[in-house]
Amino acid sequence: MRLSRRDLVKLGAGAGMSLGLGWRPTVGQTKPLIQKPIPSSGEMIPVVGIGTARRYNVETEAELAPIREVLRRYPDLGGRLIDTAPGYGRAETVVGRLVNEIGNRDRMFLATKVAVGGRRGQPGGDTIQAGKDQMERSMRLLHTDKIDLMQVHNLRDVDTQLGTLQEWKQDGRIRYLGITSTSSRQYEAFERVMREYELDFVQMAYTIDNRGVEERLLPLAADRGMAVLVALPYGRGRVFRAVGGLDSPLPDWAAEIDCESWGQFFLKWIVSHPSVTCAIPGTAKVSYLIDNHGAARGRLPDAGMRQRMLEFFEGL
Ligand SMILES: NC(=O)c1ccc[n+]([C@@H]2O[C@H](COP(=O)([O-])OP(=O)(O)OC[C@H]3O[C@@H](n4cnc5c(N)ncnc54)[C@H](OP(=O)(O)O)[C@@H]3O)[C@@H](O)[C@H]2O)c1
Repeated sequence: MRLSRRDLVKLGAGAGMSLGLGWRPTVGQTKPLIQKPIPSSGEMIPVVGIGTARRYNVETEAELAPIREVLRRYPDLGGRLIDTAPGYGRAETVVGRLVNEIGNRDRMFLATKVAVGGRRGQPGGDTIQAGKDQMERSMRLLHTDKIDLMQVHNLRDVDTQLGTLQEWKQDGRIRYLGITSTSSRQYEAFERVMREYELDFVQMAYTIDNRGVEERLLPLAADRGMAVLVALPYGRGRVFRAVGGLDSPLPDWAAEIDCESWGQFFLKWIVSHPSVTCAIPGTAKVSYLIDNHGAARGRLPDAGMRQRMLEFFEGL
């Protein structure tokens, strides 16, 4: 049963609430992990995950070594969700191989995507079979017989692919289904799909300097009981450049919301939005992992503090 907005608030999903649910103390981590519920099931997930675009498209042992360390340490820090895609070059291969080697698949929430055919209305060939073939391949590469979340990537051939995803969910081959797009040109189409289908997750770009989804898509996700994954939380590093680099000082009051870095400042600003479930910063180094996952602990900004953060950022 899908949780209502009121249930979510009761579970503490409102901005500014630190959630102790699911907290296991881990060495060196004294603050509870912040998690939010997936509205369609009530399952809790940590508010910070991992994205694998670009930086997981690697091959050599030297390139794989830091990623192996990230994936080994991630669940110990309390993390679970990893977002990948067939479109990210070797990323699925890398995630599948390393998670299999480490043996921590059962501690991960694996999200991937399907992207076949053309845009809506212009499917090419048998896209039903092509989508199934692609998802079978993802399962082989990820060494799993069940994908936690399967998303239609950039709304490609969305109506046909969602049909298959619904079947696969019923058959227990995927646990959740959803859609993704990070392009403002697709907002309208995105909204149409959100209104027409029962989706568990929607993935969209939301960054302190890119707030277009606040107007319609984020409120709609809350109304429709859909979990929101936030792609591009750092605008591929753009926001760090905007503040003058990682070494530029944070405002003193950032300590009031337990921010020790710009990464935590930007992630906490995002995940404190009441509609947002989890942000997925690209994380291919242990130093980034520790920093990013620090944003899933301690206090979150309330609405007033979010406004202050935004004004500070815009004033720079
Ligand atoms: N349409 C879609 O479905 C779609 C589209 C885009 C993205 N996504 C998803 O969203 C995820 C995130 O997007 P993204 O990786 O492209 O961009 P991003 O998360 O906005 O930025 C990632 C970059 O920020 C830097 N970084 C990460 N953690 C940092 C930290 N703690 N301190 C300083 N710098 C840090 C790294 O840059 P350097 O590596 O240069 O140091 C990293 O590559 C993707 O991996 C993907 O899973 C989905």
